[in-house]
Amino acid sequence: MTQPARLAILASGRGRNLEAIQAAIDLGDLNAQIVGVFSNRTRAPALAFAREKGIPADALQPKRYADRASYDTALAERVTAVAPDWVVLAGYMRILTANFIDRFAGRLVNIHPSLLPAYKGLHTHTRVLAAGERMHGASVHFVTDELDAGPVIRQGHIHVKPDDSAETLGDRVMACVERQLYSTALAELINGTVDYRNNAIYRDGKPQQEPPNACYDTTSSSQHNA
Ligand code: GRF
Repeated sequence: MTQPARLAILASGRGRNLEAIQAAIDLGDLNAQIVGVFSNRTRAPALAFAREKGIPADALQPKRYADRASYDTALAERVTAVAPDWVVLAGYMRILTANFIDRFAGRLVNIHPSLLPAYKGLHTHTRVLAAGERMHGASVHFVTDELDAGPVIRQGHIHVKPDDSAETLGDRVMACVERQLYSTALAELINGTVDYRNNAIYRDGKPQQEPPNACYDTTSSSQHNA
């Protein structure tokens, strides 16, 4: 793998995870460089952030492609052109085709705002509150053909507060968990602590039975390692 590791980021939205990854790189906590940011939305704030930082940023508009397969082929070509070691989904809100996933298998990762395998899919904060859960969090996982179902590298959790709304809970999951968790997991992949073989995760050379799941209740800035 190249040093620093080359990251291609796919983002559709606000880009808080992208910002956090760049911040970890700037602090020297992550031996990586972001070599391209790709979005399905021309106005995604993630693209603006990337351009401000001098990172090549590209929007591919779905309406310019005949179908999902041709869109993903074009996207895969752009991504391949930046020669990434890792393809990092950071709030990428389009379902990827199996062809795209297979092309980057084993080096395609995502962050999902729930403690997987619970609450796959959308609106996780609302659903967690409706179910009366006491804990909520986020998971970094390898992407496989099944949505939000690939092997989990690492998770982080916080406790739900009695007066939480979906918004306050989601903001805390982002600020306290996601912003730290993604770079922690990426660092483990880049430095070889975590390895992915035969559809299974190895941590320190041993099969990982359960992903580490650290508590992030206390702070929004320091890093927790389980
Ligand atoms: C995050 O909650 C991420 O887990 C989910 O989409 C959201 C993206 O937020 N997949 P941002 O674009 O990184 O601010």
